[in-house]
Amino acid sequence: MAGFQEKNGILHVDDIPLPEIAEQFGTPCYVYSASVIRDQYNALKEAMERALPADRQPLLCYACKANSNIAILKLLQGIGSGLEIVSEGELARGLKAGFKGQQIISTSFGKHEAEIEACLAADILQFNIESPEELHNINDTAARLNKCPEVVFRLNPNISGGGHAKINTGKKENKFGNTSDDIMDLYALAANMDHVNPVGVSIHIGSQITQAEAFKPGFEKLAELVERLRDAGFSVTCLDIGGGFPIAYDDNEELLDLDEYASWVRDIILPLDTKIQMEPGRYMVGNSGVLLSKAQYIKTTPSREFLVLNAGMNDLIRPTLYEAYHGIRPVSGHNREIKAYDVVGPICESGDIFAKQREMKTVEKDDLVVIQSAGAYGFAMASNYNSRPLPAEILVDGDKICVINKAQKVEDLMARETIPDWL
Ligand SMILES: Cc1ncc(COP(=O)(O)O)c(C=O)c1O
Repeated sequence: MAGFQEKNGILHVDDIPLPEIAEQFGTPCYVYSASVIRDQYNALKEAMERALPADRQPLLCYACKANSNIAILKLLQGIGSGLEIVSEGELARGLKAGFKGQQIISTSFGKHEAEIEACLAADILQFNIESPEELHNINDTAARLNKCPEVVFRLNPNISGGGHAKINTGKKENKFGNTSDDIMDLYALAANMDHVNPVGVSIHIGSQITQAEAFKPGFEKLAELVERLRDAGFSVTCLDIGGGFPIAYDDNEELLDLDEYASWVRDIILPLDTKIQMEPGRYMVGNSGVLLSKAQYIKTTPSREFLVLNAGMNDLIRPTLYEAYHGIRPVSGHNREIKAYDVVGPICESGDIFAKQREMKTVEKDDLVVIQSAGAYGFAMASNYNSRPLPAEILVDGDKICVINKAQKVEDLMARETIPDWL
């Protein structure tokens, strides 16, 4: 079976034992399973195929902020995915991986001129607009380049969605999106511009949305807005219904059902008779990856035992930033006793904690330990804090293995730095 399974007491990724990967490439490193990514993409696609007619299938645009390694992008491009980007860098990655401009949607917040120009030069499918200023900027830039891109306007429905306040994007106090009233004005403004073509509306209310009641009212608000726009004489031919679909970080977690989600798309979005786009990020890649690390020390204090990993918050910041839960387990030694650890990294920050008082099989110095569900917003958010080189990324597909991003070396950290000759 695909993904991360225990065989003969040792955790494997597809056919490969994780200790072999650690031996060959060192730790910490990110390890991804290609088959998990394919399975996730296909499960979403098939849920949509069950719910919607063949000629009304959505364009699934992978939100590559979750994991933008060009090999992962190539994998998804090869199985028919589109792409959602939020920067000039992500555009360049997408093009390098083989996506055509017409498969790419730009949803960035605060798009700047160079980024807009690069998107126009690549002839991308559409811009999702965050503000009137951005609309003006796109129209002006497109005028200079004699283009007329399609634009949609992001709705802020004032609905809370998302697994943590910092990944909630749909409330009125969030910076994202526009009110329905503002979109009525934006549409009118755009209709009078020569170098943008307003075609629809988008929504994205947050990430890791586990509340069933969040998506549905968001879709309903989108539908109300479409009616209003059409009543005012505007044409609406495209709806981008965003990402946010959750993954299980904990084995016992109950998740939204894909078929239920697809049924809301069928009941609320489909009757609006538009093209449909989706932007899943975390869902596609989150459970495809682990951060493979080593137990550097077991430090015992009067109050607790610290499991000190050689991976830190610079490698995976989600627990520090979002108090996010990640499963953590040793790669072998599964018949050992259960113990509670504070699992920490080597960074000089008290917040460098992956888990507090986490019960797991006893770990000994130099044991390999994986932090699970690290394929999304893991390496993509990694940094060089404490002058630590970025870890390698490794892709496994059955018995095939490739280092898709080499680990940095200490020399790399200073490669772009200069000491002025006047010091
Ligand atoms: C506009 C937009 N679309 C899609 C996504 C992807 O979200 P997720 O990874 O939760 O699917 C994000 C994430 O922040 C986003 O801002």
